[in-house]
Amino acid sequence: EKGTYPHYMLKEIDEQPAVMRKIIQNYQDANGELEIDSDIVSAMNEADRIYIIAAGTSYHAGLVGKQFIERLAQIPVEVHISSEFGYNMPLLSKKPLFIFISQSGETADSRQVLVQVKEMGHKSLTITNVPGSTLSREADHTMLLYAGPEIAVASTKAYTAQLAVLAILAEVTAKSRGMEVSFNLVQELGIVANAMEVLRDSKEEFEMIAREYLSTTRNCFFIGRGIDFYVGLEGALKLKEISYIQAEGFAGGELKHGTIALIEEGTPVVALATQKFVNLSIRGNVKEVVARGANPCIISMDGLNMEDDRFVIPEVHELLTPLISVIPMQLISYYAALHRDCDVDKPRNLAKSVTVE
Ligand code: M6R
Repeated sequence: EKGTYPHYMLKEIDEQPAVMRKIIQNYQDANGELEIDSDIVSAMNEADRIYIIAAGTSYHAGLVGKQFIERLAQIPVEVHISSEFGYNMPLLSKKPLFIFISQSGETADSRQVLVQVKEMGHKSLTITNVPGSTLSREADHTMLLYAGPEIAVASTKAYTAQLAVLAILAEVTAKSRGMEVSFNLVQELGIVANAMEVLRDSKEEFEMIAREYLSTTRNCFFIGRGIDFYVGLEGALKLKEISYIQAEGFAGGELKHGTIALIEEGTPVVALATQKFVNLSIRGNVKEVVARGANPCIISMDGLNMEDDRFVIPEVHELLTPLISVIPMQLISYYAALHRDCDVDKPRNLAKSVTVE
């Protein structure tokens, strides 16, 4: 039940710190160390390449998950949109492991791929919020999200839960391979949960940003570099899905190869700046769009912030920033939809899970 909340989406956004804590609890052993099913760790270690298959928001989580797995466990990862993969299968490696990411565990496009790769004799792991769902039953292994039911069509807490579980998978695998992980993930996820609470208490700020930038605009761009780009893709999806504003996410450096032609006087451009090594280059991209009249909204991370940034998120580990930087995206989209009188929880033309191909 949504209780005192006007919408499930807002309730689910607010639940994210609690979901983080629940995930930590569920993946900790008696000594407080992170632990996952040893069969899953073996499957990861036997794989010469991992193929992540997902749709929509879960696909965006997969893009970030690739960074976690490659950087920590050093296993190559490809991320594919499920509806494309089935018809357009890339050349597979000798020992692939397929990871299906799906909140509902019922997405038909992903299931179609699972059926195909099972027939080919490949191993699979489903990361899902719904125990006993089709993708969970049919894959060799399952990792649960422990996010509680997600009712709003726009996925929020499932995305951050997917990222946390992918980080745990990457960390446990890395350690099992004798690789050094230079930070304590339990501690870092605790810091993430606290930072989420800070953002949860900053709602008026996001409502103002939505009012200022999005109440009448026709379109909006999201730019970032590295993992900020992936969060931008998710920000754009969230915004278009519930507010019907045409929104697109771009890699900061790619804009000048065409899309910059769309920038007009006042076009909102949300720029994410949470990664030290690209902080200056993304700001360079902001200057390029401002020179064409864009209205910039820079969301940066504490420590990397500069004058004129519109919002500064609390500092978290640089690999885990998507868990935090997505929350402004979720809240700005929520308030933009509200200001534009859209049906936040049940946007037009959409169903919670897409069970047809
Ligand atoms: O249940 P799934 O995670 O497999 O669903 C995938 C997409 O349909 C889903 O993420 C969709 O994009 C959401 N409505 C996004 O908010």
